[in-house]
Amino acid sequence: MSTDALVLLKADHKEVQRLFRQYRAETGTATRAALADEIVRALTVHSYLEDEVLYPKIRAAVPDLAFEMDLAHQEHHVAEVLCAEIDAMSDDDPELPAKMAVLTDVVTRHIHTEEQDWFPKVRDAMGRKELQQIGEHLLALRQTAPTSPHRPGLIQRVADAMSA
Ligand SMILES: [Fe+2]
Ligand SMILES: [Fe+2]
Repeated sequence: MSTDALVLLKADHKEVQRLFRQYRAETGTATRAALADEIVRALTVHSYLEDEVLYPKIRAAVPDLAFEMDLAHQEHHVAEVLCAEIDAMSDDDPELPAKMAVLTDVVTRHIHTEEQDWFPKVRDAMGRKELQQIGEHLLALRQTAPTSPHRPGLIQRVADAMSA
């Protein structure tokens, strides 16, 4: 299996898109809740790996993409807030399907931007060897990456910002 960072991250994207499709196709409360758990876990790990490893490398190697990295990081933040809310909801919460639909839209657009707009630029700028080294780092870090979106105080900070 390739350890190219972009190949690994694209495989994650494909898996999460598969989970989103499966969620939409399911109607049972328990199955949907289990899929929502899987989606939250997959996104939490993936965003962590990008935020910790890939995006800083891109900032250093491709300064032209600095604003794209800022945007991507903000999109991760929106997804993380939605994931934290979804994680805290009961399985039969009537708002859950709509929350999942918004998460699906945000993440699908984000993935499209990564893969179409700037992964090709990153590949050109970094080359195979560096992308393989980054990929090996991603694989190692995946073992200890957080799987739950509840970073200390996330929802409280959002609530504080809204009431300020
Ligand atoms: Fe991302
Ligand atoms: Fe990604």
